[in-house]
Amino acid sequence: MSASSTPIPPQRTGSVSTRQVLIAPSLLACDFGHLAEEAARVQEAGADWLHVDVMDGHFVPNLTIGPDVVAALRRASRLPLDVHLMIDHPEAFLTRFIAAGADYVTVHVEAPGLARPDELRQALGTIRAGGAKAGLSLRPRTGVEAIRPYGDTLDLVLVMSVEPGSGGQAFLPEAIPKVRAVRGWFARHIAVDGGINAQTGRQMREAGANVLVAGTSVFRSASYKDAIRSLRGDQPS
Ligand code: DX5
Ligand code: ZN
Repeated sequence: MSASSTPIPPQRTGSVSTRQVLIAPSLLACDFGHLAEEAARVQEAGADWLHVDVMDGHFVPNLTIGPDVVAALRRASRLPLDVHLMIDHPEAFLTRFIAAGADYVTVHVEAPGLARPDELRQALGTIRAGGAKAGLSLRPRTGVEAIRPYGDTLDLVLVMSVEPGSGGQAFLPEAIPKVRAVRGWFARHIAVDGGINAQTGRQMREAGANVLVAGTSVFRSASYKDAIRSLRGDQPS
C-alpha cells in the first residue's frame, strides 16, 4: 500500500454506509459549451468528484476530450478530477493527464498497450509516481479475475455497468455480482459507471460500491441537488 493513498475501512459484508458514498457526476452528459459553469453547478449541488470521460475513437467509437480540457477543469473546480481513460495506449498519455491536474487516473485492463502484466503494472506505477491515484476499469464482458492480481497497486476499481463509449445507456445488472465479488477482496474505492440512477445506485451501494458515477441522471435532471441527494440514498430536499 502506498503512503499516498487513503484506505477506506474494509466492507466485507453488507453495504458501505451512505456517509461514505461519493457522487461523481460524469461531465459527458453536461453542456460542453458551459463546461466551467456546469462543473461549478454540480460542485454547489453537493458532488464529491468530477468524472471526466476521455475517449479516442479507437478503444471506443466516440471522441471526447484531452489533457487541455482537464487542465481547464482543474482551473475551474476544486473537486477531485476522476479521469477515466477509454483510450488505446493510455501509457503514452498518463503524465500529460497528471500534469493537467487529474487526481485519479483510471485505465482499462483491456487497453492495447497494457496487455502484458508488466505493462499494466508499469502504467499503474507511473500514475502513482506522478502523485495521482491509480484506478483500473473493466468492460462488462471482462471477468473480475482479470484485475485481481493488481489489487495491491490500486486505489480504485471502476466496474462498468454499460459498454463504455456513450452516456444514456441502460444499466447492465450483471455488474452487481461483479461489485460484490470485488468488495470481497478490495477495501478501497469501488466506483460504478453506466446507467446509474437512484435505483441502480442503491443496488450498487448494497453490493459494496462507494463511488457512484452518474451522467444522465444528474445532468438531465431538473435539480442537480436532488439528483445527487437521491443517488446518495437521501431524500430530495
Ligand atoms: C460511458 C462513460 C460514462 C458515462 C455514463 O462510457 O464512462 O461515464 O458518462 O453516463 P450515464 O450515467 O448516462 O450512463
Ligand atoms: Zn466514465
